[in-house]
Amino acid sequence: MTYDDIRKLFLGYFEQHGHKIVPSASLIPDDPTLMFTVAGMVPWKDIFLGKVAPTSPRVADVQKCIRAGGKHNDLDEVGFDGSHHTFFEMLGNWSFGDYFKEEAIAMSWDLLTNVLKLDPNRIVVTTHITDDEATKIWKKVSGKDAIRLDKDNWWSAGDTGPCGPCTEMHYDMGADLDGGLPGSPDEGHRYVELWNDVFMQYNRDANGILTELPKQNVDTGAGLERWASILQGVRDNYDTDLFRHLMNAIADVVHVQKNDSNVASFKVIADHLRSVGFAIADGVIPSNTDRGYVIRRILRRAMRHGQMLGHRGPLLSALYPALVNEMGAAYPELAREQAHVVEIIKNEENAFSDMLQSGMKLLETELPKLENKILPGAVAFKLFDTYGFPLDLTQMILRERGLNVDVDGFEKCMTEQKERSRADTRGTKILWESRGELPETDDKSKYAPIDNMQSKVLAILRNGEFVETAESGDNVEVALDKTTFYGTQGGQVGDMGELRINGDTVVNVSEAARANNIVIHKGIVTKEIHVGDIVTPVINNNIRTQTARAHTATHLLQAALRKVLNTDVEQRGSRVAPDSVRFDFSFGRAMTDDEKTQVEKLVNDWIAADMPVKHEEMGIDEAKSRGAMALFGEKYGDVVRVITAGDVSCELCGGTHVYHTGEIIKARINKEKSVASGIRRITMSVGNLAE
Ligand code: SER
Repeated sequence: MTYDDIRKLFLGYFEQHGHKIVPSASLIPDDPTLMFTVAGMVPWKDIFLGKVAPTSPRVADVQKCIRAGGKHNDLDEVGFDGSHHTFFEMLGNWSFGDYFKEEAIAMSWDLLTNVLKLDPNRIVVTTHITDDEATKIWKKVSGKDAIRLDKDNWWSAGDTGPCGPCTEMHYDMGADLDGGLPGSPDEGHRYVELWNDVFMQYNRDANGILTELPKQNVDTGAGLERWASILQGVRDNYDTDLFRHLMNAIADVVHVQKNDSNVASFKVIADHLRSVGFAIADGVIPSNTDRGYVIRRILRRAMRHGQMLGHRGPLLSALYPALVNEMGAAYPELAREQAHVVEIIKNEENAFSDMLQSGMKLLETELPKLENKILPGAVAFKLFDTYGFPLDLTQMILRERGLNVDVDGFEKCMTEQKERSRADTRGTKILWESRGELPETDDKSKYAPIDNMQSKVLAILRNGEFVETAESGDNVEVALDKTTFYGTQGGQVGDMGELRINGDTVVNVSEAARANNIVIHKGIVTKEIHVGDIVTPVINNNIRTQTARAHTATHLLQAALRKVLNTDVEQRGSRVAPDSVRFDFSFGRAMTDDEKTQVEKLVNDWIAADMPVKHEEMGIDEAKSRGAMALFGEKYGDVVRVITAGDVSCELCGGTHVYHTGEIIKARINKEKSVASGIRRITMSVGNLAE
């Protein structure tokens, strides 16, 4: 039975039993307590809590899940056995106040033993220590005496929220494998959890207090990969059809066949391809914070395993089409987002590839010097800071050799670096401003960037000093005579991209900033660069588009707030970043849920109307006579830029914008809160992230 067969059979069974079949929800949960969707129940939390009414009292689906980073974390285990994954699919059936323990247990048992024809003697069941009712039901339904456990039979997605006792079904993979019964001290590989039926009855608050939920619900979850291994008669999930096909694709890309000594790398790459590919298709952008950083770390780990197989160059970006081939029928978003996902992964791979080689060289020279098998924190920090090695990547590499990292030492360097950089941010700006003699950067073409500009390197700042030459690995700030980069200003985060010489990247620019009228390209040198060199500044168009969407969406948001709340609402600050907006405005109280819904709807209606967005330059007086909104307390020159979106918004603005509101795709308000007396803050996602 293939993965496709099992998905169909599972959903078919529950459809016959009155369940509505729904598609998987996004991996990005609508839930600030979780980084990713870690289980099938995550999208249903508000229904369990009684905040939202269900569209059907019985539902079944196959939910994509990621357990990496945060409380549910399987990242370190992947590759070492046959059952761990960072990305997996969870089969689940739900009752929202409809059936409860009796019917849930009866259906699980019927499906496992009568439909899938698993041997009842090989199934072991467990119940919560307090749950006499479920224990009795098992006896009646299957004749089995459940093993009674405590912590293992209580389930919750986060520290707070819906939870309850559960009953698990485990499968005996064979007496020749190590490990005792579930709950015994030597849990090994013999018994594998097949299915978990949770009886969602309680809500846990921040103090740990349990209160009864409005209704008694059922949440069940079964790992599709495990079912596939059992139904296909293999003991390792990575030997099932889906993974065999991905492993073949990996062998084709890396030009190495899988064998006993390299199989862990094959497993890691196959697993990481799924988590990275699915997460980016759902709108995650690799970054240095939160879930973006988890995805970046996973991607970098995969590259390290590619390198262990002797591979250099694109890896996950080259493998993504194989993932679409394998899973695209069940998850249409994979093919729909293909161009976007491949480009993002390629950018990440390009940025890290050279650093991975150089970092490994550094590590190889340090390892022979180790005392006590512990890598000094300062070396791990240099790998992190200069070569982009996340700490867990260094730990993974060392673990393979039986070595460890001095984590406290690493943290100490990190704290010191943060303090330094706080001082530096003030410091470098002052250094640039006090340098004199530099002409202001000509950045006129920032609104319509070309990709063949020839710019001269005027100055390079490294570690607080202006230098003539910088080398690979150096953290620098570079000033040019002219640039296409938008330097951070007016709340809009500056461009990312590259400086190139004859097509080769010489600096990976993580942000273009400004010191007065000089645009500073901040980033890491990948190839020696000198003052006087002629370079081509090339912006990352993807990021530029995402930022432009966010900026125009900010104007629509302001217009919607003035319409729904009142016209006294004024902007008090903003941060416009790729696909995300933070907007502070004057307003005296919290917005109601209804107001937030109305504002979000207005913004989305304007996006759907695909109104033209005009970008014009004009005299300040003309702009004022058109009623263009200006920022409170801001000074403007005689000639100003005016951004007009349809007939709903007209603002003075120096930022980058889309040309039609439809390019924004979608907007979604995430949060509305107070930041100071009389000032509220809205955070909003747009584009693919919002979708
Ligand atoms: N929420 C439970 C789990 O993840 C059952 O779906 O195991």
